[in-house]
Amino acid sequence: MSETIAFRPETMQQVNKIIARYPEGKQKSALIPLLHVAQKEFDGWLAVPVMDYVAEILNIQPIEVYEVATFYTMFNMKPVGKFVLEVCQTGPCMLNGSDAIINHIRETLNIKVGETTADGLFTLKTVECLGACGYAPMMQLGDFYHEHLTNEKVTEIIALCREGQLALD
Ligand code: FES
Repeated sequence: MSETIAFRPETMQQVNKIIARYPEGKQKSALIPLLHVAQKEFDGWLAVPVMDYVAEILNIQPIEVYEVATFYTMFNMKPVGKFVLEVCQTGPCMLNGSDAIINHIRETLNIKVGETTADGLFTLKTVECLGACGYAPMMQLGDFYHEHLTNEKVTEIIALCREGQLALD
């Protein structure tokens, strides 16, 4: 992360557009979209100085940003790998084998849930329902859902990541 926390000019334009969606005085409503932008811009996670920077832009207290950022699993509070495997473990996914998928990823990458591989490529997270229960078991990777997962599919996805062949957004 760079010493000075600041969005690139093109990102700042995007930020201003997001803030402009909300009425004067209601800029706090832009918090979640801005945290997504910030996470993408600053290495995939939200360090305290980054959250403070977002608070400054929205003219709100840093604690208001921390409260939201720490509540949702989609925001990372520590450094993550380039590829964050977010496996759903809620009921329907669990009944359809998410435990086996999680174990397969743990064994393949030799990491536990919440850890990142030594090469900095992969992080494994478990998350709650992502609204794709009909396609269980599933996981999110970048902006995309990968559904009806099997061990074979997961192995293939990991290989594609390593080869740089899998789009994240
Ligand atoms: S339970 Fe996994 S997407 Fe809903």
